Amino acid sequence: MKIAILGTGRVGSTLGRRWAAAGHEIVFGSRDPSGEKARAVAGDAGSSATAASVPEAATGADVVVLATPWSQAETIMQSIGGAAGQIVVDCINPLNDTFSGLDLGFTESCAERIAAWAPQARVVKAFNSVSSATMADPVYDGQQATLFVCGDDDDARNTVIELGDQIDFESVDAGPLKNARYLEPLAMLYIHLAMNGWGSNCAFKILKR
Ligand SMILES: NC(=O)c1ccc[n+]([C@@H]2O[C@H](COP(=O)([O-])OP(=O)(O)OC[C@H]3O[C@@H](n4cnc5c(N)ncnc54)[C@H](OP(=O)(O)O)[C@@H]3O)[C@@H](O)[C@H]2O)c1
Repeated sequence: MKIAILGTGRVGSTLGRRWAAAGHEIVFGSRDPSGEKARAVAGDAGSSATAASVPEAATGADVVVLATPWSQAETIMQSIGGAAGQIVVDCINPLNDTFSGLDLGFTESCAERIAAWAPQARVVKAFNSVSSATMADPVYDGQQATLFVCGDDDDARNTVIELGDQIDFESVDAGPLKNARYLEPLAMLYIHLAMNGWGSNCAFKILKR
């Protein structure tokens, strides 16, 4: 599968490296694709990974992963022509300017905004409530961290569930895209915990009996 990862920060670089190791073709979309950082991130991901501009990376990709700040989401969706027909994985948390809370929630979500800006994209919310440290290794003492995945397109949601499983998460089908209204506040709870003693090497786990 060809996966475009937009953003070469903590989330983008980690997911790209893991999916490259799982056998996918990765193109990192960067503001500065020939710069030192993007070249290093692509190099770390191995020989199947390259870096390109954001629109170039998204062109022809089966899956486009948004791993950029919330403030850039609308501009990025415009710059890639709305990702018509493509699976768009929204990892973004709509944090406010001071990172003390969310810009929106409960009656709408970042994921639904993205779907509204790009009505022909198949938007899936995932990877927002797990840390990049957990993305690097989701297995805690033999237990897999839970990855909540929601989206309205069954095929797209199942593809992202499979992509989560391939990098060792226990992916959970969390239903329609509007459930991103609950996954984004869950990430805010995670951020609170991480900043108040738990650090980034912790993860949510759903139990069942
Ligand atoms: N960090 C986590 O553990 C975590 C976990 C779950 C979800 N998230 C969410 O995932 C998204 C990415 O988080 P991150 O921690 O990977 O962020 P980050 O380390 O700051 O990386 C974000 C990347 O986005 C790109 N970018 C494009 N426009 C930008 C702009 N105007 N300012 C800054 N960066 C810009 C940059 O790549 P180029 O320089 O190559 O363009 C940058 O490296 C955020 O929305 C965050 O809420 C983060």
